[in-house]
Amino acid sequence: MNLLKKNILIAGAWPYANGELHLGHVAAIISGDFLARYFRLKGNKVMFVSGSDCHGTPISVKAEELKITPKQVSDKYDKKMREALIDGLGFSYDLFFKTSDPFHGKKIQELFLNLYKKGYIYKKNQTLAYCDKCTRFLPDRFVEGTCPKCKFVQARGDQCDECGSLLDFQDLINPSCKICSATPREKETEHFFLKLTAFEKQLLDYIKKSKGWRKNARNFSIKFLEGGLHDRAITRDSNWGIAVPIKGYEHKVIYVWFEAILGYLTTTQKISEDLGKPDLWREFWKNDNAYHYYVQGKDNVPFHAIILSAILMGLRSLKNFNNKSVKSGESVENQWSDLHLPDNIVSSEYLNFDGKQFSKSRNWGVWIGEFLAKYEPDTIRYYLGINGPENRDSDFSWHDFKLRVNSELVGKLGNFVNRVLTFVNNKFDSNVPKVGNLKDGDKRILSDCNNIFNEVGTLIEKAKFKDALKKIMAFTDECNKYFNDQAPWKAIKADKERAATVLSACVQAISAIQVLINPFLPFSSEKIRKQLNVENRKEWKYYEISAGHEIGKVEGVYKKIDV
Ligand code: MF3
Ligand code: ZN
Repeated sequence: MNLLKKNILIAGAWPYANGELHLGHVAAIISGDFLARYFRLKGNKVMFVSGSDCHGTPISVKAEELKITPKQVSDKYDKKMREALIDGLGFSYDLFFKTSDPFHGKKIQELFLNLYKKGYIYKKNQTLAYCDKCTRFLPDRFVEGTCPKCKFVQARGDQCDECGSLLDFQDLINPSCKICSATPREKETEHFFLKLTAFEKQLLDYIKKSKGWRKNARNFSIKFLEGGLHDRAITRDSNWGIAVPIKGYEHKVIYVWFEAILGYLTTTQKISEDLGKPDLWREFWKNDNAYHYYVQGKDNVPFHAIILSAILMGLRSLKNFNNKSVKSGESVENQWSDLHLPDNIVSSEYLNFDGKQFSKSRNWGVWIGEFLAKYEPDTIRYYLGINGPENRDSDFSWHDFKLRVNSELVGKLGNFVNRVLTFVNNKFDSNVPKVGNLKDGDKRILSDCNNIFNEVGTLIEKAKFKDALKKIMAFTDECNKYFNDQAPWKAIKADKERAATVLSACVQAISAIQVLINPFLPFSSEKIRKQLNVENRKEWKYYEISAGHEIGKVEGVYKKIDV
């Protein structure tokens, strides 16, 4: 396999805690769990982190709507997201944190101050949207209007969801106040700016040299940078968020994108502290043996590829900065210096629902809670893995979902496991039979059991999840075909040794499949493991099961869905 780095950080985008999750969100972040489970099996050191994005206008807007506090909004949806992602879909986060946690807030203030002292954050007057009727400034999502670039009518004060452009409110055509619909006016206020312009050239070099990023991330970022950067305000007039840690400005808060995006870093520190190994995070952030995957939807790309990278570049220059010498000539390391830059941006396109984009705000979609009340989590993990918006938009429809589950999971994978294990139960007294003389076809199945791990693993490492799953399903097809062609139910009458050999090869194939599907379909993998009656498999490899091993009770893997 090609990735030689040992310590793998998998950074899943933090959903806003302002509503329930729908399939569109999950489609963007599910591959983080594929990666995490795979790399753990491969023996890498893994940290898989994410959390609830609790601050910012998405939450404030919801709080205004529900007439409760932003804290209540974020706690409520944080809980629901944990239920959906962790309990429901089985995401194996090392920690799902939240930006409202004081641990995060304190670290963010430190990071902010370091960049401020270094000059990469500076104060400047800014003209912002102000609503006279509501007597308040209208940050980001409190303003809506038409995008000047793509003419989408529901663009927001900070970004257009349709074309991904970063915007200022002045760019919007026909801006209006989200609370009262009045037309806002411009008003001056003082804010802190991130000096993005300082990193323009460095960013362009870095992104041009990057390898393995999804095409959309790479192309978007290069185009964006070639269009020229300008410094962006990273504080807001709001009372919900992390306070600016500078005297006289405590009533302003740090912009949600500046702080949430550094949550990947603070979360790894929190994990380290909780484990009683306070330096563990350094193995992921300050160590050349680290590799970072950022998993997200394409609208997140400008923030990760440009803003996060710029912040990290600013922090990199902190080496020996701002530390009093202990003795002359000796200095204490600044812990924020030399942090690792993003290696791979795994950015999805959009998942549509019957042809239209999923949308929390427009109430169009399939909610995860609703979904999980009816269907097994692996059915949707499978569907999003094999038909997700990996390189282009894809469409979810109930009909297609049900057909795929029935024909592929039930009809191919489940069926193969079931018919083989049932046969072993009935005809071989539940004992894995002994192989006799191997024919070419048997040899091919057995050598594929070995070789396929390398092939699928390489695809996963390259974030080609669709191809990886297709490869596994093609192997399953091959196994079904082998079973049909060899017809052991006939062979057993004439030549029991021949039937034994075929069944043995099929059991070995199931043994391989059980591990291969683990990153994608952990629940099914566990079911098959129990039926094989084998120990927990901790490695990404083919485990041969010896003759005479007694398999467990055969219970089937999937149930057919009514169409
Ligand atoms: N909450 C943002 C969104 O849903 C994503 C934030 S990712 C972060 O688009 F890690 F940077 F916070
Ligand atoms: Zn208003």
